[in-house]
Amino acid sequence: MSTTPVATSSRLNHVRYEIRGSLAHRALELEAEGRSIYKLNIGNPGLFGFRVPQHLRDAVAANLDRSEAYCHQQGLSHAREIIAAQQRSRGVTDSSVERIFIGNGVSELIDISLRALLNPGDEVLLPSPDYPLWSAATLLNGGTPVYYSCSAENAHFPDPEEIEKLITPRTRALVVINPNNPTGAVYSRELLSQLVRIAERHRLVLLADEIYDTITYDDAEFVPLAPLAGAVPCLSFSGLSKLHRACGYRIGWLSLSGARARTGDLHHALDLLAALRLCANVAGQWAIEPALTGPDTSAALTASGGRLHEARRAVLDSVASSCFLNVVAPQGALYAFPAIDRALLPGFDDEQFALQLLEQESVLIVPGSSFNLGTRQHFRITLLPQPAELRDVFSRIERQLARGAEPARHVA
Ligand SMILES: Cc1ncc(COP(=O)(O)O)c(C=O)c1O
Repeated sequence: MSTTPVATSSRLNHVRYEIRGSLAHRALELEAEGRSIYKLNIGNPGLFGFRVPQHLRDAVAANLDRSEAYCHQQGLSHAREIIAAQQRSRGVTDSSVERIFIGNGVSELIDISLRALLNPGDEVLLPSPDYPLWSAATLLNGGTPVYYSCSAENAHFPDPEEIEKLITPRTRALVVINPNNPTGAVYSRELLSQLVRIAERHRLVLLADEIYDTITYDDAEFVPLAPLAGAVPCLSFSGLSKLHRACGYRIGWLSLSGARARTGDLHHALDLLAALRLCANVAGQWAIEPALTGPDTSAALTASGGRLHEARRAVLDSVASSCFLNVVAPQGALYAFPAIDRALLPGFDDEQFALQLLEQESVLIVPGSSFNLGTRQHFRITLLPQPAELRDVFSRIERQLARGAEPARHVA
């Protein structure tokens, strides 16, 4: 009997998703041995006691009998009409039901969109750090990621001049993640308008990942990209996973906007790829109407006294009192992206630290380099735990960093 391993696709050679990678596997092993682990590697609200709002759950339950057949490849038409109406109310004046595609989460639609767009060697401008699915889906669809910097030194904002310098004849698309995962940056109207002008000048497609939508803190305001883009082709992504805490429903959508004369072929390609996977989960689509037309259930979480607001406060206080850490305060989304002070910990390596933190302090975080970042001094932590848990987590992080600062004593 042959023992030769089954070969896998070389397309996967550079594909990584460390949010659920080797550290997360190790955490499961430790749990199986009876250890209790703070698993802060993933923005999955349902794991932290958040519930899907009752009116969304009721809508799904009430419509299960109508969820047994495949639906249209783009999604239930009444749900798409609701999404198109939201787009129109936000200023995408000609949004309509046939320009909306519902998918099994934004994740599936990111893959479909890049598959629809890219030829081998086409370049996609991605933020660094990025949400790593964007890099993975670019590579899997034959594209080449080209990173523009969103460094802490620039408050995690992109520099439009740098972006423009990275453009080549092969550049096809500009990905904008706003509010940003992992950094929490929220982009201003002025910055977004500059990005639109770049796309216009260089005939790029805008890919706006807006899954965190209005999850913003303090005075930050979420500005959707599509209304600013006008005639520039733009795919805007959002869904139920974050704002409506319904990750498990696997419902996301994309809205196609821009001059119809330029987007006809793209529309056709998206439709074909959507048809190949038949349709998105039908039961979950019944939650779209109550989510977009019912009461706002997230504003109270991010307002002063709300759970996410207080969790963010706990992170900011902990970092402020740390000897080793600094952070650009997240203005949106569900994460903070602290960095260590290299002067105090010159040999710091984010992956090694994350493993030691897991082994010694039972805390699972994601190293910053997992987000396609060239430097190795950041980590990402989700804001979803209770504030008191986050304070405990940061005292463990501080202890681990102190061990790193005094290696001689630690070895002894
Ligand atoms: C920026 C970003 N885009 C897309 C996704 C995927 O969302 P979905 O659950 O809709 O697939 C996530 C999930 O964390 C995300 O952070």
